[in-house]
Amino acid sequence: MNGAILDLAVAIPHHYVSHKELAQARGVEADKYHRGLGCDEMAICGPGEDTVTLAAEAAWRLFEHNPEARERIGLCIVGTESGVDAAKPVAIYVHRLLGLPANCRAFEIKHACYGATAALQMASSWVQQHPKRLALVIASDIARYERGSAGEPTQGAGAVAMLVGKADERDALLQLSPISGAFANDVYDFWRPPYQSEALVKGKYSMNCYLEGLQGAYEDYCRQAGDEPTPDYLLYHVPFPAMARKAHRRMSDLRGLSDELYYEDLESRVEPALWANRKVGNVYSGSLYLALAGLCERKGTRLIGRRLALFSYGSGSCSEYFTGRFGEGVHRYHRHLQHLLDTRTEVDVDQYELLHDASLKMERNNSFQSALPHQGQAFTFLGIRDHERCYRQNFAEDAVALIPARPTILNNTRPFQRA
Ligand code: HMG
Repeated sequence: MNGAILDLAVAIPHHYVSHKELAQARGVEADKYHRGLGCDEMAICGPGEDTVTLAAEAAWRLFEHNPEARERIGLCIVGTESGVDAAKPVAIYVHRLLGLPANCRAFEIKHACYGATAALQMASSWVQQHPKRLALVIASDIARYERGSAGEPTQGAGAVAMLVGKADERDALLQLSPISGAFANDVYDFWRPPYQSEALVKGKYSMNCYLEGLQGAYEDYCRQAGDEPTPDYLLYHVPFPAMARKAHRRMSDLRGLSDELYYEDLESRVEPALWANRKVGNVYSGSLYLALAGLCERKGTRLIGRRLALFSYGSGSCSEYFTGRFGEGVHRYHRHLQHLLDTRTEVDVDQYELLHDASLKMERNNSFQSALPHQGQAFTFLGIRDHERCYRQNFAEDAVALIPARPTILNNTRPFQRA
């Protein structure tokens, strides 16, 4: 038996801009974004948010609902392509901010949007050898393209944290199947050299590479699994929701479905997962798992016993098609996504640009600001001091700053409690 996702939780930035506003500012018809790309709103990171705070906040929310799990974590992997350091992984900051056990492997995996799937599959194998321990897998990313470019409306940010363990099939939220299909192909469709803060992308070409990856991974899966009935739900990597529709079109062609069946399937098996992606945008490694959270939130316990197929694509490229079955563990999923979306602050395009610039400035040495507002976040990125990143835990009785240069504060570890 393979490992299982036992629970998952999401974090998203505290600001967003609507695509209606963005379209107006860029002189584009709003329908191009709404209907053509399937996007309504786009999450924007402020200066106190980064890949680490998003990852830590998603995991913190996961432990709020599974408090006994924290001390059983023996593996902490962050899948990201927005790492904050070329050597020091996001996972070790998360390990510290959440007070995870010291006897724990903590590291980062990168392969564009595929990183978190690589992490999930690795964790799923690891729990077989460590049945008493749990793995924490986090997908955390900030999608940035050049302002005014075709990619701009497909930005976004967020994190999804998943608790992975060896579970009785019935107790799993999603029991993963040991069969999966993979497809690797060296292409320059989307990439970000170290000297660039925004990604470079060949938009149309990247869509072809994605669809080629889907076909390759699906065919590899079918060679191993033989003929299987159509899964009840299909999740595709979601750089923008219309891409998931195109993916389903390709999948329907591969399965020989008629046009009529394609539309029926799209409505009933694909669309129910996409609502949150429309309001958050691309979360790169987290987009597929945001769709999983969206599906759990919308369908709840009606998912129990249902089969799910997932397609993960990471530019560059690596693709994986895998499946799972929902179990009673769906009861564990605590609905929070709609609330997170409802409590964000809307900004206009000028404010979005200011936030964008301010958060890029925070990535420079000596950007440290101890008084940065925390906007209700569990963790705040305070900036960089003497080349070291500083964070604040906001949920403790009095906020605790984790400033590396001060060992007395460094040793301060606090139990979990709300402010
Ligand atoms: P574009 O060239 O501005 O858009 O860029 P377009 O002209 O192709 O229009 C988009 C759609 O809107 C088209 O629909 C138009 O017809 C329609 P389609 O023909 O594709 O079905 N449209 C309208 N619809 C209604 N009313 C209107 C209207 N006008 C036009 N008035 C593009 C689009 C996606 C290329 C761009 O946003 C981009 O470069 N995005 C970033 C790259 C990307 O997301 N690629 C996806 C595949 S690669 C991937 O998923 C990996 C990734 O997540 C990274 C990673 O792995 O880490 C990106």
